[in-house]
Amino acid sequence: MRLSRRGLLAATGGALVLTACGQEARPAQSGELLRSKAKLPEPFQVPLPIPPVKKPIRSDANADYYRVVQRTAHHEILPGLKTEVMGYDGLLPGPTFDVRSGRTTVVEQVNELDVPVAVHLHGGHTPAASDGWPLDLIMPTKGGHGSHGEHGGHQMAGGDPTTGKRVYTYPNTQRAATLWYHDHTMDYTAPRVYRGLFGLHLVRDDEEENLPLPKGDREIPLVIADRAFDEDGSFRYPAAKDGPGVEQAYMEGVVADVTLVNGAPWPVHEVDAARYRFRILNASNARRYELGFDRGPATFVQIGSDGGLLDKPIEHQTLVVAPAERFDVIVDFSQYQPGDEVTVVNKLDNDANVLRFKIARKAPDDTRIPDRLSSYGVLPRPSGAVRREWRFRRGDAGGHRGWTINGKPFDPEVMQAQVKLDQDEIWTFVTDVHHPVHVHLAPFQVLTRGGGHPSAYDHGWKDTVDVRPSEVVEVLVRFTAHKGKYLIHCHNLEHEDMAMMAGFETI
Ligand code: C2O
Ligand code: CU
Ligand code: CU
Repeated sequence: MRLSRRGLLAATGGALVLTACGQEARPAQSGELLRSKAKLPEPFQVPLPIPPVKKPIRSDANADYYRVVQRTAHHEILPGLKTEVMGYDGLLPGPTFDVRSGRTTVVEQVNELDVPVAVHLHGGHTPAASDGWPLDLIMPTKGGHGSHGEHGGHQMAGGDPTTGKRVYTYPNTQRAATLWYHDHTMDYTAPRVYRGLFGLHLVRDDEEENLPLPKGDREIPLVIADRAFDEDGSFRYPAAKDGPGVEQAYMEGVVADVTLVNGAPWPVHEVDAARYRFRILNASNARRYELGFDRGPATFVQIGSDGGLLDKPIEHQTLVVAPAERFDVIVDFSQYQPGDEVTVVNKLDNDANVLRFKIARKAPDDTRIPDRLSSYGVLPRPSGAVRREWRFRRGDAGGHRGWTINGKPFDPEVMQAQVKLDQDEIWTFVTDVHHPVHVHLAPFQVLTRGGGHPSAYDHGWKDTVDVRPSEVVEVLVRFTAHKGKYLIHCHNLEHEDMAMMAGFETI
């Protein structure tokens, strides 16, 4: 059986639902495929790049100070072609921040692009003034803002724009975890991130460092992002011609035909026959992955989630990763022989290639995966928690074309909830189609999914949860510090730009 796309669209009210025939239904993909016009390379020709670690310009007893310049740069992403990227320090992905829990990171962000930007540390326990509120813009120093179809339509109300640069302060008062930073400009997050404005921010602590896990060359970030390219190598993105957001045809999300890992198309990496730690981030605008290996016996042993280490490891044959989610995993290549190759594929896209490992040599390995990783426990369901419901739906009414939360498109002047600090809250997320739901400021634990147990991918502290079509997910959240305006939104970036975002205020 092969349904046409149009037939599917009609059947699902607009959501593209990909289901593998003859197998149990796989989680759906929401998005519209955008194809490249450029000639695409053979996979596994390019070595896996590792983003450089950012060096502080100075340090004192409590803090490290950094300076990042957001600028365009031209990179050879596809062999023989140049792609203009918008990058932190001109890089795609941006440099990796590698910081200590409890030590403050101070970042001066300089905007040398010709568009306004805002920087958000995703997963950060960050004071509101540094959280990258979508109207706390850094205006460009040169040329005003005008390119990329922006007609100066930003309302400044509710924001605190600066010109040229802005200093962000991250206290890092949180456990070791894989965080990431990315653009958060109102109405334009999707095209900014698509062109390169994203990078990793790793928080480390003693608890994690004392574990006998792979380190150094055997601890590798895998930042996965799909992109499409024009004939000349430039990024293709279907921005709306008549204002902010994306073309109507791509309202479900932009999914593209080239998989970049750390900025390289379908790269290859030589490994020792040993254990490796991979910090996987899905930095795609809308695409979800079910990562698997093309040949056994390798599996993913998950040790951490968005918010840091799990209490104990969980073994997965495949890993479903929604946009913005992070999975910290160990893969044991000692089960292969030198000369073997093993490919990571996306089971949600007919085993499409992601990247390949070549087992280069036998090597000593003194690492282990302890049965007990971290001392945090699963929180019991509190009695007397405050309950709130957040409904994520398409909403085309009242002149608004796009997506809504609780029936409302994002309005920076409207706070949909006032949330007391130090109060247990049970938040219920309800969907129509697929929505990866993200909450700023505090991590949460998933209590129930579809009225039953959390899924195999919901364990640990999360800040993004993949809520599937017509599903109800309950999470337990508690905000412990920082009063101000924060966001809850869908992390399908096309949905976010088309207003699926809501402010809430911690009090
Ligand atoms: Cu990763 Cu509000 O964002
Ligand atoms: Cu965030
Ligand atoms: Cu969504």
